[in-house]
Amino acid sequence: MNQDELKRQAAIKAVEFVPENEYIGIGTGSTVNHFIRALGESGKTVKGAVSTSRQSSELMAQYGIPEIHPNEVSSLPVYIDGADEINHLLQMIKGGGGAHLSEKIVANLAQKFICIADESKYVSRLGKFPLPVEVVPMARSMASRELVKLGGRPELRIGFKTLNGNEIVDVHGLDLSRPMEMETRLNGILGVVENGLFAHRPADVLLLAGKDGVKMLTA
Ligand code: A5P
Repeated sequence: MNQDELKRQAAIKAVEFVPENEYIGIGTGSTVNHFIRALGESGKTVKGAVSTSRQSSELMAQYGIPEIHPNEVSSLPVYIDGADEINHLLQMIKGGGGAHLSEKIVANLAQKFICIADESKYVSRLGKFPLPVEVVPMARSMASRELVKLGGRPELRIGFKTLNGNEIVDVHGLDLSRPMEMETRLNGILGVVENGLFAHRPADVLLLAGKDGVKMLTA
């Protein structure tokens, strides 16, 4: 089974966790695309979904899943999303698709965050995947100098703009052995809008697909 098929297996499993006739949150990425298709084909009805990117919104529309704005809800029973890396505490690096700001907002509206991933995403230590950091364009160089002081090697994601018109620097080499501390520290840098560490809001459930099936892990 290839990686994409494993992503699809995890996504199909996640449909079981979707409550009928409720609002849900939907993340971004290739694993989530499988989830949107699986939900659309399942015959299960949701009242609506908060989306985290144009890409997810477009696919939701194709499958007749109504979109609602995050300001219209105060809480969501579940949020389904992928990850770039996830550890045993279900802390994650996200933002490979550049959507981690909206993903973090919607994840924090959710009572339960269900992460869907293939087994390659499960790591003993976060940090091999470069950490995406969203920065205000005029502060990109200033913020990057601060990221260097923290031990990182920032690399501008060339030609990429976020939903909010900001830029992303992918930061290599940061010491993420204390994810909560680093998440807070990075967001304290002037010009940083949000970083892709999900340590203060980890997932609650991980549906991890491997060659022996989909395992359900909790922290
Ligand atoms: C999007 O910004 C990310 O946080 C994605 O959730 C993450 O990159 C996982 O993407 P794939 O499902 O495409 O691997």
